[in-house]
Amino acid sequence: MTTPPRFDGRTALVTGAASGIGRATALRLAADGAAVGCLDMADRVHDTAAEILDAGGQAVATTVDVADADSVAAAVALVEGDFGPTRILANVAGVLRFSILEESKIEDFDLQLAVNLKGPFLMARAVVPSMLANGGGVITNVASSAGVFGQAYLAGYAASKGGVAMLTRALAWEYLKRNIRVNAIAPGGVDTPMTNVVDFPEGMDFSLIEKSIAPGNKMIDPSEPAGLISFLSSDEAASITGTVIPIDHGITC
Ligand SMILES: NC(=O)c1ccc[n+]([C@@H]2O[C@H](COP(=O)([O-])OP(=O)(O)OC[C@H]3O[C@@H](n4cnc5c(N)ncnc54)[C@H](O)[C@@H]3O)[C@@H](O)[C@H]2O)c1
Repeated sequence: MTTPPRFDGRTALVTGAASGIGRATALRLAADGAAVGCLDMADRVHDTAAEILDAGGQAVATTVDVADADSVAAAVALVEGDFGPTRILANVAGVLRFSILEESKIEDFDLQLAVNLKGPFLMARAVVPSMLANGGGVITNVASSAGVFGQAYLAGYAASKGGVAMLTRALAWEYLKRNIRVNAIAPGGVDTPMTNVVDFPEGMDFSLIEKSIAPGNKMIDPSEPAGLISFLSSDEAASITGTVIPIDHGITC
């Protein structure tokens, strides 16, 4: 017996699709049958779409700044022009800057809030009208374990991700009766460029960030959060909304 593809031609938008979790999510949703709009600030996002097309899937790529409302509107219009109304949105794009508070740059705080929190807000705001006009949809945001326990030296990042969790719950309530589900996942350390190239400030007390490290230094493969996003976006998760699901080897339990 063969199972039909989970998403069967539904339009999905994935931000951060050039790299790491976003790339893995775009590939996974495409493999599950979605027509995927791959969005990212980096030009490499075209490579992700090319990889999907090579594998026989449907994809289009465009560059976007998720923190800019006009750029978001243009990207959504481009994808919907090709594939039709958005049914699935995965807000994955993000930035992380370690710093000691007294030496931190205000621009870094602003950037993390703009990309990590305002980005998912702008993306949701841009796709909800077409979701409402076409029977509903599913939004999944990427929060972080750092935004659950409040990680030292990541004040801006942790605050932005705590905000993502609350944005998720607020939108889930707002659209509860209109068939738009909104969830978040909160990963621990995932093996991506974000964690492989970390710029730690001098003078950090590493014992304060030990709780963010999984037993045995285990890292999560990007395919795992991608799989969880695919499940949450699917009809099998029809009753799940307003959740923030940890995927973190238990470091926040
Ligand atoms: N890697 C981890 O350990 C980890 C843990 C918890 C949460 N997260 C979150 O997962 C998400 C993906 O992270 P990743 O590890 O794959 O990182 P990554 O650096 O590999 O990918 C992030 C992507 O976001 C894109 N991006 C940055 N600013 C953008 C903007 N303004 N507009 C559009 N795209 C932009 C980057 O170009 C990049 O391709 C982020 O939200 C991150 O905060 C990551």
